[in-house]
Amino acid sequence: MPELDEYVNELKDIWDARWLTNFGAKHEAFRKALISRLGSERVELLVNGHMALELGLKALGLESGEVITTPFTFVSTTHAIVRNGLTPVFCDISPDDYTMDVSKIEDLITDRTVAILPVHVYGNICEIEAIQDIADRHGLKVLYDAAHAFGERYKGVGIANFGDISIFSFHATKVFNSIEGGAAVCRDGAVSEKLRLLSDFGISTETDIDETGANAKMNEFCAAMGLCNLRHLDREIEKRRQVTCAYRERLEGVKGIKLNPLQDDVESNHAYFPIVVEDEYGMSRDELSDALNEEGIFARKYFYPLTSDCGCYKGRFDPAATPVALDISKRVLTLPLYASLDEETVERICKVILK
Ligand SMILES: Cc1ncc(COP(=O)(O)O)c(C=O)c1O
Repeated sequence: MPELDEYVNELKDIWDARWLTNFGAKHEAFRKALISRLGSERVELLVNGHMALELGLKALGLESGEVITTPFTFVSTTHAIVRNGLTPVFCDISPDDYTMDVSKIEDLITDRTVAILPVHVYGNICEIEAIQDIADRHGLKVLYDAAHAFGERYKGVGIANFGDISIFSFHATKVFNSIEGGAAVCRDGAVSEKLRLLSDFGISTETDIDETGANAKMNEFCAAMGLCNLRHLDREIEKRRQVTCAYRERLEGVKGIKLNPLQDDVESNHAYFPIVVEDEYGMSRDELSDALNEEGIFARKYFYPLTSDCGCYKGRFDPAATPVALDISKRVLTLPLYASLDEETVERICKVILK
């Protein structure tokens, strides 16, 4: 959170304007700030990352068919596909960085495939060039779920600039938040325009309703929070980098504990610190999680279960069809990570793991 005074300053403008939502001045100021930060012109703000995904698929004109995606993600990714009347087809993940295994995508393409929806999971960047090559050869759309990747760059280019659309989440738990919020960055101006209409009931003019839209607009209070937090983003990322370095110093080389990879060509936002508990560790992921809990340390089994194994999808998909993802989901534990996490606490957490 920013200092309260900084936020209150933004709120004064809202009180003066007496404009609370529906594309007000804060909305526009935040959108412009993001255009400059992301290095992309076509930024649409939304009420959250989920609606950016859901309406993003709709804005791409995908009304039926199959979408190749990953089950190793937050349920939102899969729900967005299903809620659009599309069918998720799950591709396995790479055991190295947990993003979609590109060598397995083409085997899943059928004459019903319309899009690929990869996730930059934990901020680990997907194999962008290979995915675009497959999409181009098969005439498929690409929508990146970049909910975890805000602020990252790949080969010097802002991560928003890949695929037909990249979406971000500005949820309170993310590296960068606008309380709740999200954005979609579109390659094509017409898609961007359609997304904006879809976020406002499809209303073009007072009497023209041109799309079956939803209400997914970002309000002025969220935009104001986004404006404040954006000013402090670089400092936030730097502090998180220091926390991840402190973890790495203590956990690198520990038998049976696999750390998240450092990817070449990627400027990371240090959003998450997942570890994978391998057999040689001598204790299961669940046992380690319990041991940490007993010390008042709450690591998360993030992402477990696979989305293909969630209660609402039981019997519909076969989680065993993505064996790497299934295995990692049973072994992964995401350690506490936030900017103000001090080195002493990191030391305490690591001591439990080492013991
Ligand atoms: C991978 C992924 N996709 C989508 C979302 C949805 O974002 P939001 O919570 O802003 O709706 C999240 C969020 O939490 C996420 O982790």
